[in-house]
Amino acid sequence: MTKDEKTKIYNLLKAASDNLCGYFSPDFAGDVPEFSDDPEISNEKSASSNQASSQPELASDSTLSHINKKISECKRCGLCAGRRNVVPGMGVPNPFVLVIGEGPGEEEDKQGKPFVGPAGQLLDKMLGAIGLSRDKNCYIANIVKCRPPMNRNPLPEEADACRPFLDAQIAALKPKAILCAGSVAVKNLFHTNDGVMKLHGQVLDFKGIPVVTTWHPSALLRAPENKRPAWEDLKVFKNVLLGIEPDYCK
Ligand code: URA
Repeated sequence: MTKDEKTKIYNLLKAASDNLCGYFSPDFAGDVPEFSDDPEISNEKSASSNQASSQPELASDSTLSHINKKISECKRCGLCAGRRNVVPGMGVPNPFVLVIGEGPGEEEDKQGKPFVGPAGQLLDKMLGAIGLSRDKNCYIANIVKCRPPMNRNPLPEEADACRPFLDAQIAALKPKAILCAGSVAVKNLFHTNDGVMKLHGQVLDFKGIPVVTTWHPSALLRAPENKRPAWEDLKVFKNVLLGIEPDYCK
């Protein structure tokens, strides 16, 4: 039990006892005692603070290769235990657009590259339709850089542990615009509970960078009826890009 839990129980018992006695209860006279955490909790707390302090935040001017090295060494959350490879991201070093996905799947974990399975093929088509490609003008990254088991959504603590890497990637890559693929991406980028159903097609702002959200390609493979609204989102995004660089897709 934590010291806070013990203090709370003490205060509840004191209030109940005072009430029952109808006056100030002698059993609870004096100040509230100084409780301490049970030993196993103290150990857990110090283990997790050691883990965090052994992996300092990345400097805002870190290079991409330094960030990738830090990602490859990362043990900030439990996902490191199940990974075959980290998946930092791929694309050109000075991208026009940063695409943010969710996290690696099985094939990505095998190859150490993002979006290389069936969802990746659809993502490449979506990007190609608006003059973008990972070879030419995009960088593709994910909210978490290690595969969540059974392809589940990343847990909040996993996304939070990985966040310094995404922030450092954005600072190093300096994209002119960001495309969020799916709810996990937009929710975590903005720390909001609003997902793709609410935010798709809107032009949001992340530290001065315009952001458009659309459906994750895996979601489109499961529910192709959303391909039409996703295409509308991509047209919104293309207009944003044309406003930044009118010649970008020539
Ligand atoms: N889905 C994602 O969100 N990211 C990948 O890298 C692959 C599939």
